Amino acid sequence: MDLNDQTTGAGPAGWWRHAVTYQIYVRSFADANGDGIGDLPGVTARLEHVRDLGVDAIWLNPFYVSPQNDHGYDVADYRDIDPLFGTLADADAMVERAHELDLRVIVDLVPNHTSSEHVWFQEALAAGPGSPERDRYLFRDSPDGPPNNWQSVFGGPAWTQVEDGQWYLHLFDSTQPDLNWRNPEVGDMFVDVLRFWLDRGVDGFRVDVAHGLFKEETLRDQVVPEGIESATGASAGESMVERTEVDEPMWDQPEVHEVYRRWHEVLAKYGGDRMMVAEAWTQSPESMARYIRPDEFSQAFNFSWLLAPWSAEAFAEVITGTFEAVDQVDASPTWVLSNHDVDRHPSRYGGGATGLARARAATLAMLALPGSAYLYQGEELGLEQVEVEPEFRQDPLWFRTGNPGRDGCRVPMPWSGSQPPFGFGPGTGQPWIPQPAEWSELTVESETADPASTLAFYRAALATRRTFAETAGEEVEMVAAGTDVLSFRRGPITVLLNCSTEAVALPAGEVLMASGPVDTALPPDTAVWLR
Ligand code: GLC
Repeated sequence: MDLNDQTTGAGPAGWWRHAVTYQIYVRSFADANGDGIGDLPGVTARLEHVRDLGVDAIWLNPFYVSPQNDHGYDVADYRDIDPLFGTLADADAMVERAHELDLRVIVDLVPNHTSSEHVWFQEALAAGPGSPERDRYLFRDSPDGPPNNWQSVFGGPAWTQVEDGQWYLHLFDSTQPDLNWRNPEVGDMFVDVLRFWLDRGVDGFRVDVAHGLFKEETLRDQVVPEGIESATGASAGESMVERTEVDEPMWDQPEVHEVYRRWHEVLAKYGGDRMMVAEAWTQSPESMARYIRPDEFSQAFNFSWLLAPWSAEAFAEVITGTFEAVDQVDASPTWVLSNHDVDRHPSRYGGGATGLARARAATLAMLALPGSAYLYQGEELGLEQVEVEPEFRQDPLWFRTGNPGRDGCRVPMPWSGSQPPFGFGPGTGQPWIPQPAEWSELTVESETADPASTLAFYRAALATRRTFAETAGEEVEMVAAGTDVLSFRRGPITVLLNCSTEAVALPAGEVLMASGPVDTALPPDTAVWLR
């Protein structure tokens, strides 16, 4: 395949290859109707903030009709908007406004499972064992307990029994039954869904649990090494972080790639400028590379950057490993530090002033790397993970395991004013999770007024990145720079990230950007771009 052929959408010219995408968790971004939950008119009204930040695209978490048991990752109708978030007309208006502001729009697609309230699952329940309706899901007879030993990512068995005695598989919550991708009706339905959103003008899809879909056909037991309680932990919060090399008959099966080749062709018919990015938690760079071959996904999230501890050596290993993977298939790398499933990175790096300094430094290093970066709403304000009171928690991970779950990175955005809801919604109505009172210092309004704020830092870093992102080349050369100091060169730019506890001398060069104060030395927990 000719990689320069723009009509395939796979060539180096694809806009996403250098893009910075801003993730919008719709329920927590901005609330236009005052019900305490963010919505699409809220997004539309606040898009100028995103444009002013200086990104190229937005990715919105699911806004489709859903009982919201997993905040929209349990879809009951893929072709309509949940009334909580608005209407199809609101979605069209959001896409139109984003395009006016030169922002591309990526929507979330959830093909591994539906909601148990999806009409297909309701029909399957009504039709009974052996019916074509049941064959759209993974129903099995098993008189002596669950059909195999698989565990849900959210804890507990991955099987639930229905009234007539059959069991159905759900790798996530019991309200998220897994689809049977060996049934051709399922594949056809998702092609229609892709076209539905492409016809409405979206620029791409973030594909949820892209490594799921197919399970080993026999649904055999998973071989679980002794001492490990459950090994189904691919995706969703901490269970992903603890993942090690294990036998995984439920993930990353070879048949899944046929699906993405078909989707690639669907997208290519729309002029070559539409993209798709995989959420695929695979075990090795090689298996990741298979998802981003030229006729499959445009990109895949590179979670190894987000999983790396605060260590120059670890960051260097991730960079080298990432290029080894993407170079196999001529794909562009991606980088991400935070999303709606993991603890916010200032908190992961220790919290407080140190955590924030490290977060800014890691962000600066990330933004100099070739490829594209994904930012998560609120990181531009330096927000930390919030300890959410149990009464407000809504994550199924919390209900199924007692693990505090992911709500702490999903607290509604603070926009303005000195007390909650900080302009999140109109008036004084409180959002679905209370915001910490200290966020009065971290609103978009107050940070806009402060040239030393994290927001000012993000705006400057993104503006400076634009001056070289497309011209500095795709090669990175690692440079030796002392113990626990990461350094690499990309074209004219040299990057240093000081993970050690001592200041290090700065090499000669003009300081283009720094994540904190620097003089002739680079203090600990600081990064710099030199030219
Ligand atoms: C993905 C989503 C996560 C969701 C899960 C199940 O990992 O990012 O939020 O809970 O899939 O759909």
